[in-house]
Amino acid sequence: MNGASTTRARLETLDLDVLHWTPDLNLGIEIIDGQHRRIVEYHNRLHEARTRGDRKVVAEVLDGLVDYTQSHFSFEEAVMAAAGFRLAATHRSRHEQFVHRLGEYLHRFALGEDIAGEVQETVKLWLLNHIKREDREYAVSVRNNLDTARLQQILRDDETARAMVVQGRS
Ligand SMILES: [Fe+2]
Ligand SMILES: [Fe+2]
Repeated sequence: MNGASTTRARLETLDLDVLHWTPDLNLGIEIIDGQHRRIVEYHNRLHEARTRGDRKVVAEVLDGLVDYTQSHFSFEEAVMAAAGFRLAATHRSRHEQFVHRLGEYLHRFALGEDIAGEVQETVKLWLLNHIKREDREYAVSVRNNLDTARLQQILRDDETARAMVVQGRS
């Protein structure tokens, strides 16, 4: 490795805006941990697109991030209900507040505002905290009451339900 690329590699590792997966984000539920990892990836892709100043890619990543986060919330809510988690309603309203906030960002973006940095910060602060605290609250109940096969079934049912809504059949 020559001097320039060593310096670049060092700068990349030092980029504090890139999120790295840390063990305290693991809930020990494979499907959900995988979804959370994907949200972290979306955050990093948003950061990259923003750094490059590519508004078209920023728009694509924002859409993907919002869509994926909503799907994840919907799945998590179905899982909490199936596990009989007692704080499911409170958790759901936290999700709804966040989705509302994302909707506002998308609206401002459509009006031409540069909100990608704010979204990035929000994902970093709100979502990571949500995973570490609130998502962790349901983890024990889900691990004790649902096995992987049941979780996969819920995921399939949830995808079907969402596809039906999109197609206006529900
Ligand atoms: Fe989550
Ligand atoms: Fe959640």
